[in-house]
Amino acid sequence: MTLAKTIYKGRQVYLTAGQGNITKYKDNLRRIGIEYIYVDDEISKGIEIPDVVSDETRIKCRVALQDTIERFAETSILDISEVEPGLDTMLEEIVINEDVKLSLNDISIVDDYTFSHSVSVTVYGALLARKLGFNQEDIHKLATGLLLHDVGKTMLDPDILFKQGKLEEEEFEYVKSHTTLGYEALSRCFSLTESSRIISLSHHERLNGSGYPRGISGEKLSPFVRIAGIADVYDALTSDRCYRPKWPASKAVDYLISRCGTEFDTDMVSTFVKQIAVYPNGSLVKLANGFIAIVVSQNASAPLRPRIRVITDPEGKMIEPFEVDLMDELSIVITESQLELNKSINQ
Ligand SMILES: [Fe+2]
Ligand SMILES: [Fe+2]
Repeated sequence: MTLAKTIYKGRQVYLTAGQGNITKYKDNLRRIGIEYIYVDDEISKGIEIPDVVSDETRIKCRVALQDTIERFAETSILDISEVEPGLDTMLEEIVINEDVKLSLNDISIVDDYTFSHSVSVTVYGALLARKLGFNQEDIHKLATGLLLHDVGKTMLDPDILFKQGKLEEEEFEYVKSHTTLGYEALSRCFSLTESSRIISLSHHERLNGSGYPRGISGEKLSPFVRIAGIADVYDALTSDRCYRPKWPASKAVDYLISRCGTEFDTDMVSTFVKQIAVYPNGSLVKLANGFIAIVVSQNASAPLRPRIRVITDPEGKMIEPFEVDLMDELSIVITESQLELNKSINQ
């Protein structure tokens, strides 16, 4: 088996796409928290795994953000010029690939959740804004604000921020202060517009006033802030956290839909979920009849019904692979996604 997608560790390449004999790295990868990888083998032949924004660009943005924040910690001056080139490349890629569905997060070995989360939230939010018809200037302002939305977290005590298990009331209040702390820091950065800064203060506010820090609601939440709330929650739910494992895309999509009109803007959520590959290319799915298949490609209008390649029978025995387009076979239903399958295998 050959590695199909490069794996990164921090700033460096950990394993390059094309690396052969990948099974010998299995234990090492498990040890550092990598539960799944993309491989090229007989059964996955010809399946492409497109991405809205390339791993290279995500890493470029993450590294620039990390450097910016480290310099800010030393000098108390927030100079965001270093993040601009990466951000520009990201926005160009989003324009080119706007019809590519959003897949699983990149499989970097992430040492620092806050930075990779900030980049993913920027990708989600900028793509959503594009689909909602925002102009490029506004998308740029939004993306800058999204990239910096959790800057306040970098000023908190990591022992509390990344505490395993439930936070005490007091600790939760402390973590909430990342919104006001971030906003104060961004207020001293004069190259930012107020519409970008406000994202750091208000990305945890909700339409019905149930959010924090101010509990503001309805029209008081700008479109930028509404987008930020959706992108932030979606990425948090689909990422591994110290207090819970990541959710499959289907569950995170249900979460957003069930809170439409109360916590989140209905039109924005419905536009957003259309961009998600609920069952990403190259991932495994289980069908209601027990067969296991690998996802080959997406059907743009029906995210729950991709084209699949069936590879095992209900007993789990490998069979001669055959392809089915679930748009043509409406009686066939997917019941489990890759993550749920991983869970049942690990138990
Ligand atoms: Fe936050
Ligand atoms: Fe966040």
